[in-house]
Amino acid sequence: MKMGNQSIISEFLLLGLPIEPDQRDLFYVLFLAMYLTTVLGNLLIIVLIHLDSQLHTPMYLFLSNLSLSDICFSSVTIPKLLHNMQSQVPSIPYAGCLTQMYFFLLFADLESFLLVAMAYDRYVAICFPLHYTTIMSPKLCLSLVALSWVLTTLISLLHTLLMARLSFCADNVIPHFFCDMSTLLKLACSDIQINEMMIFILGGLVIIVPFLLIFASYARIVSSILKVPSARGMRKAFSTCGSHLSVVSLFYGTIIGLYLCPSASNSTVKETIMAVMYTVVTPMLNPFIYSLRNQDIKGALQRIFTKWAIQFSLRQ
Ligand SMILES: *[C@@H]1O[C@H](CO)[C@@H](O)[C@H](O)[C@H]1NC(C)=O
Repeated sequence: MKMGNQSIISEFLLLGLPIEPDQRDLFYVLFLAMYLTTVLGNLLIIVLIHLDSQLHTPMYLFLSNLSLSDICFSSVTIPKLLHNMQSQVPSIPYAGCLTQMYFFLLFADLESFLLVAMAYDRYVAICFPLHYTTIMSPKLCLSLVALSWVLTTLISLLHTLLMARLSFCADNVIPHFFCDMSTLLKLACSDIQINEMMIFILGGLVIIVPFLLIFASYARIVSSILKVPSARGMRKAFSTCGSHLSVVSLFYGTIIGLYLCPSASNSTVKETIMAVMYTVVTPMLNPFIYSLRNQDIKGALQRIFTKWAIQFSLRQ
């Protein structure tokens, strides 16, 4: 047991967003609307993909997994944020804080791995169109998804266990709206060297390696299109890769903006704004990116509605 002025902290205070009290209601409604849009938009994608047999392809099954991950990812932070905006004492118990951190990492990393699986799928579809169905077999797809789950579970478990070893002293105020790993490390009063080393190594594994794999897939895709340039090939590549590339840019754009841009003088505010970008805005935009420009999704939506309309009119 350590002696002195250390005490065991049983809860943290989440300061939330840096907004004026008179704007709180406005932001509450805004975040509630964005959360509902995220859940409903992604749910629509999942239901559509499972109902329409023409969308039972690897690309759309991965997309459906990504949408599920988006729903879970935003549910880790936004409901607690909304709850704290309404409560007088925005506290979170110690165990709750670690649980939130665990699931936050789990779904963030899962998204990263699923984007790699989707990039690989596009690479096979464009570079080996004749072997596509044999290479991207249901067994391989399931293995890729299962591997993503196993890796991401282990990685976030490791981070959470390493965080649980640390002791927290007097300061229990988190200047953020969720239990973020780096913010928690700043509050710890024991040695955080191992934690920082693991963040460095595993951060490379879940951010840099997927980024390089996605980059390599697209480099191969572009070179294969340039080798035999045809208007039809280009249109096919753009229509199937465009949405995925937009989601990838959104995902890595926010990460690069957060970690690689020179830090502004008020870094806490900047960090909070970037965190809102990737916890609230990115999961909300993903279904729109896929559905607005995508003929397959639009077609499926039309077929489902036509089917329902016919069933409804037959019942009359
Ligand atoms: C996730 O992907 C796997 C493999 O393609 C698929 O079998 C499963 O139905 C997908 N899960 C969801 C929720 O779409």
